[in-house]
Amino acid sequence: MKVFAINSSARTGDISKTEIVLDWLIEGMREEKAEVTVVNIHRKRINYCKGCFVCWTKTPGKCVYKDDMTKELLPAYLESDLCIMATPLFHFTVNAKLKTFIERTLPMAQPFFVLRNGVTSHPLRHEPPPVVVVSVAGFPEMSVFDQLSSYIQFLYRDRLVAEIYRTASELLAGPMFPKKLDSVREAMIQGGRELAKSMSISPETMTAMMQPLTSFEKMGPMGNLAWQTCIDEGVTMGQFQKRKMVPRPNSIETFMAVMRTGFNAEKAVDVNFTIQFSFSGAVTGDCHMAVANGAIDFREGPVAEAGLIIKTPFDVWMDILTRKADGQQMFMDQKYSVEGDFELLMKMGEVFGRSDS
Ligand SMILES: Cc1cc2nc3c(=O)[nH]c(=O)nc-3n(C[C@H](O)[C@H](O)[C@H](O)COP(=O)(O)O)c2cc1C
Repeated sequence: MKVFAINSSARTGDISKTEIVLDWLIEGMREEKAEVTVVNIHRKRINYCKGCFVCWTKTPGKCVYKDDMTKELLPAYLESDLCIMATPLFHFTVNAKLKTFIERTLPMAQPFFVLRNGVTSHPLRHEPPPVVVVSVAGFPEMSVFDQLSSYIQFLYRDRLVAEIYRTASELLAGPMFPKKLDSVREAMIQGGRELAKSMSISPETMTAMMQPLTSFEKMGPMGNLAWQTCIDEGVTMGQFQKRKMVPRPNSIETFMAVMRTGFNAEKAVDVNFTIQFSFSGAVTGDCHMAVANGAIDFREGPVAEAGLIIKTPFDVWMDILTRKADGQQMFMDQKYSVEGDFELLMKMGEVFGRSDS
């Protein structure tokens, strides 16, 4: 099976969630011996269709332009057995580069009008390949793809093999949901295998590929913190992700949320402790975490049986958390103090953070 995979994202590598998802799918297809050609059309020269209709009249089937679309992309598209179109969701639809590609497939059609299922259309000059559409979107709700899906279904109708949509895309390369991400990745690879084997994807695999990663309630506050940290530190979100920066909490609630996110259950098996934070300065108040048998329970307020109490100005601890300051140095400089079992500080350090961060 000859597969022509189009990636229209302007971003590359781990930063591009379109590329991540497409790579997983292709991994599965190649396992099943599909011959996959991947082209990032963002790096290709594709002029806008200017609507001259020369491809319909003077030179039927041939565009007036001599760019990458006429020389390379349209022939590869028409020769393939399956085309995968992968695009970031931009303003609720395909991005401009993919739209430009789609418009430039006009030479494939003939000018005449025919009625198909009550809808006016143009007969095709060439038999185009079946299509799989892949898209990733930043928002967490599946409904964000409604407009794209409606457009794609209208455009490709009976040759649409699958629509693969991934919400909350910016979490795909992050450390937040390692188990769910593994399951999404495995499902995407499986989806690729099924496509190569049977030109279809089972409902179970589709559900696993598109399983929700998060909700607005979880993603909104953390996302806002991350964006605010980018603004404050003068970095792009790409740099933030590449440097594995920690969003800087601005309240006890967001502090607890960030800590919960960084908790590594695997490192906390057989670990038991309770630590209380008593904040002063910009944010005042208490909260405490109880770590027991691989789980964390983080709550607002003080606790009676804390093994350790950390008394610290809020900003000092946030500097330590976001790696702007060294915890030991700050302790020696008496920027914060502790009461209780000092060793628990080390234990706490051990149960946060993933092996890759
Ligand atoms: C111009 C622009 C428009 C976007 N529009 C939407 C949108 O309508 N809905 C959404 O959920 N995400 C939107 N996003 C977020 C992207 O879909 C998301 O970040 C995606 O991961 C980008 O793909 P990439 O990682 O391959 O670049 C938009 C991003 C940009 C830059």
